[in-house]
Amino acid sequence: MKMLVTGATGKLGAKVVETLLKTVPASQLAVSVRNPEKAKGLKARGVEIRLGDFDRPETLDSAFAGINRLLIISTDGDNETRVRQHTNAVEAAQRAKVEFIAYTSATNAQESSLFLAVVHRATEEAIIKTGIPYSFLRNNWYLENEISNIQGAKAGHPWVTSAGSGKVGWALQQDYADAAAAVLSGSGHENTIYELGGSLLTQEELASVVGSVLGIEVPVLQVDDAKYGEIMKSADVPDFVIPILEGIQQGIRDGALEIESKDLEKLLGRPATPISEGLKSII
Ligand SMILES: NC(=O)c1ccc[n+]([C@@H]2O[C@H](COP(=O)([O-])OP(=O)(O)OC[C@H]3O[C@@H](n4cnc5c(N)ncnc54)[C@H](OP(=O)(O)O)[C@@H]3O)[C@@H](O)[C@H]2O)c1
Repeated sequence: MKMLVTGATGKLGAKVVETLLKTVPASQLAVSVRNPEKAKGLKARGVEIRLGDFDRPETLDSAFAGINRLLIISTDGDNETRVRQHTNAVEAAQRAKVEFIAYTSATNAQESSLFLAVVHRATEEAIIKTGIPYSFLRNNWYLENEISNIQGAKAGHPWVTSAGSGKVGWALQQDYADAAAAVLSGSGHENTIYELGGSLLTQEELASVVGSVLGIEVPVLQVDDAKYGEIMKSADVPDFVIPILEGIQQGIRDGALEIESKDLEKLLGRPATPISEGLKSII
């Protein structure tokens, strides 16, 4: 039985590999990465390092050869690039006769109004088309996404949002990583869809927990998307990122991340890390 994790030199992938190494012998574990040099620490611990660039499908044939269970971690970038990259990875998995694919998808991917969901819809469909047993790990929001807001609050700025009363299932990236490791190394996950996230909170509720952890008052400033964009611009957020952030706020406001589910704690076999604990570990 050989398992492989893609994106293992990224933040989520590195955490998945660390969790796997607690229970899986390194000899059963391989990673595929764009830059093997970045993974030399894992090599020293007995993990097989393979070159796999989703932009170069020929590298993926050797990367996935002989792999039974594969975790595809979604890449970063624009939607068009990611759909192309993920399709390359899925087609390579099929050529390599991989027996199981887990994929880090997004909340409610098939119905979501969030602009990012396009990528995850297309990838889930490509995986289903192969006929390979799958598990879709539909991750809600990383708590880590809020680090710059938290730093702003620490510096005395209000918590700026245009997400209104839309709720988000924030959870610590480590919890999503532990859940992914459980699915990749466990059994009985064939053809499953897990909606993974923590308890649903509004921006006000999260800001209040941030305030208690920091020991300060964190006022919330609700604005419209245009004003939100202006404030981000004045905070030196690059121009190309602003529509992305506005689109996320809009999606949250429309309830795109408001999916209540106990799947995360089911996969973890424990409650998700409480938000206050999670915040203490990242700030
Ligand atoms: N749910 C959420 O809140 C949320 C938030 C942000 C992102 N995400 C998604 O979750 C993914 C993992 O998050 P993260 O924090 O670990 O992001 P990250 O640190 O940016 O990791 C992205 C990984 O994708 C790899 N990658 C990029 N292009 C590739 C290519 N052409 N071929 C092979 N691998 C490629 C990167 O490789 P290198 O190590 O070589 O750079 C990296 O390992 C992101 O990529 C994104 O799809 C979700």
